[in-house]
Amino acid sequence: MSTTKTTTNSSPACVREVRPSDMDAVQRIENDCFPVAWSRASLVQGMRQEKAIFLVAEIDRTVVGYALTWVVLDEAHLLKIAVDPGYQERGVGKLLLERTIEDTLARDGRLIYLEVREANAPALALYDGFGFRPIGVRREYYPETKEDATVMIKYLKAP
Ligand SMILES: CC(C)(COP(=O)(O)OP(=O)(O)OC[C@H]1O[C@@H](n2cnc3c(N)ncnc32)[C@H](O)[C@@H]1OP(=O)(O)O)[C@@H](O)C(=O)NCCC(=O)NCCS
Repeated sequence: MSTTKTTTNSSPACVREVRPSDMDAVQRIENDCFPVAWSRASLVQGMRQEKAIFLVAEIDRTVVGYALTWVVLDEAHLLKIAVDPGYQERGVGKLLLERTIEDTLARDGRLIYLEVREANAPALALYDGFGFRPIGVRREYYPETKEDATVMIKYLKAP
């Protein structure tokens, strides 16, 4: 199991693959970060998928964030990225996204796409900084609020 510690990011976090014992912390962060949280069963199912890249970020052995991506053929779908509110704006999200991109490339992924709430300024800024570009809108994608989702994509390789 590999661990990433970047030299270009001032975050003290390390990123590694998720373990079953991380799921309490992942669920807590999920509950804190999303208005409609995934259930434990959905998160565990997400972790068990062969197509999953499920990463956690740790600071001092505390899980402070996670990212879940599914890679199908050469397309990766970033389903979840979240950082404990007490650890946000310290570079943890960037580390998780960097490692997600590395792992997607290692699986021969050609692109990564995602949906993001139009009002989610921190996430939009994170994705924009990594070169994700908007390609469309999914109307009322979030049923609880009827908010639209912006679909963003980043090409990792030429078609
Ligand atoms: C989006 C999220 C994962 C970012 O994590 P983070 O660890 O705080 O992000 P980082 O500290 O690595 O910052 C990375 C970039 O994100 C952007 N960003 C982060 N927080 C921001 C804020 N409050 N306002 C504006 N931009 C912000 C900046 O572009 C930043 O780059 P910079 O520091 O060079 O300016 C975090 O805000 C989060 O968990 N949000 C709740 C869950 C969520 O909305 N997930 C995304 C679903 S699509």
